[in-house]
Amino acid sequence: MDKFVIRGGKPLKGEITVSGAKNASLALMPAAILANGTVKIYNTPRLNDVFTMSKLLNSLGATTELNDHELIINAQTINNQVAPYELVKKMRASFYVLGPLVSKFGYAKVSLPGGCAWGPRPINLHIEGLKRLGAQIDLEDGYIVAKAKKLHGARINFDTPSVGATGNVLMAAVLAKGGTIINNAAMEPEISNLAEFLVKMGAKISGINTSILEVEGVDYLDFAAIETIPDRIEAGTLLVAAAMTKGEIKINNLEVKHIYSIIAKLEESGLKMTYNGNHIKINAADFSPKSINVATGPFPGYPTDMQAQWIAYMAVADSSATITDNIYFDRFAHVPELMRLGADITVKDNSAVVKGVKKLKGAKIMSTDLRASASLVLGGLAAEGTTEVLRIYHLDRGYENLEMKLKALGADIERVKTEEF
Ligand code: EPU
Repeated sequence: MDKFVIRGGKPLKGEITVSGAKNASLALMPAAILANGTVKIYNTPRLNDVFTMSKLLNSLGATTELNDHELIINAQTINNQVAPYELVKKMRASFYVLGPLVSKFGYAKVSLPGGCAWGPRPINLHIEGLKRLGAQIDLEDGYIVAKAKKLHGARINFDTPSVGATGNVLMAAVLAKGGTIINNAAMEPEISNLAEFLVKMGAKISGINTSILEVEGVDYLDFAAIETIPDRIEAGTLLVAAAMTKGEIKINNLEVKHIYSIIAKLEESGLKMTYNGNHIKINAADFSPKSINVATGPFPGYPTDMQAQWIAYMAVADSSATITDNIYFDRFAHVPELMRLGADITVKDNSAVVKGVKKLKGAKIMSTDLRASASLVLGGLAAEGTTEVLRIYHLDRGYENLEMKLKALGADIERVKTEEF
């Protein structure tokens, strides 16, 4: 097992390039199931969740090849439609194979994902959507079994916008007979990236980037190539890292329009930035943040995947801020760990009240999930003294070479093998 040893207090300086988005890759890869040909996905991040999705596709009979950051998938050799518990329990996004498998092969058996580090993450919207498209859905031995001779178009209304359910139902609808409307669809950029990919394969989708997706089913989807969008959460995490270390950095290869909500909150906190299209420069020398409230919401709102990082940021701000998570009510496992660094935080219901302190102080702390890990690294970078972050396998699921990138910017961070758990 690995841990990070961070000696905090070094301002980040220099230029850095953001990797491809994990959550876009995890939607683009299962879409390859639908194509009658080999697909290429450029700018694929080399991280553990991508490797897990590759393993899952391989277990179905598809071949995958990742050369540098170019991923080639041939799903024409698929001969098995079962996604086993062993892989799905590792990564909930495995559930994405349900829609494309049942649409293409008329059958899919996908394990229910089971528990999650921060409370319930239901899949009812995925199931209801696929049922509306004509799939027969049963639960057998902890697996969802979906069957359909041929899916048909339908009007689908989501009570709440869900990234996963929108992706799953969209991938099913593109090969269904007739037209489908997905109302209250998720508008996250990762869903638009997926929709663009499907269109390149020959799917007929209108309303991309809006909350109403209209699909006209086609009989056949062909090979295609797509560029994975930049990871907006990695970009946001690096921005907060620069702000918390009084750094001066330029971040390249991001989509400013994907992170306006984060930029706006950083600007409210007093941070000076210049940005243009796909890069941002920030100068935080002599900067101390103001306390600013944040409430998470679906895109284009402030992302839940940046909630933990904002709590770390507010831990060193000038007064008190309330951070409310409206997407996941229990996603606060990072709080007691940040408190070990001296942060003053009280959680009530789905909100954390963070009273800024002058300095965080290094300590041994433990990752509990991916974004929690990122917030602990931020705390360590800003803290006085040495911080050890244990269980960083959570972080390795979703950030490509984060410590190498931080090191290149001047951070004192080391990956060390450990027996500690
Ligand atoms: N929801 C339902 N029923 C469903 C599905 C979702 O009620 O059937 C609710 C959820 O409980 C939640 C809200 O809808 O309150 C949104 O959840 P969503 O379905 O959008 O989440 P997801 O698709 O499971 C993706 C990301 C998450 C990210 C969320 C929210 C991927 C692979 N995962 O999850 O990313 O937090 O959207 O933006 O795209 C992460 O990267 O660390 C991560 C957890």
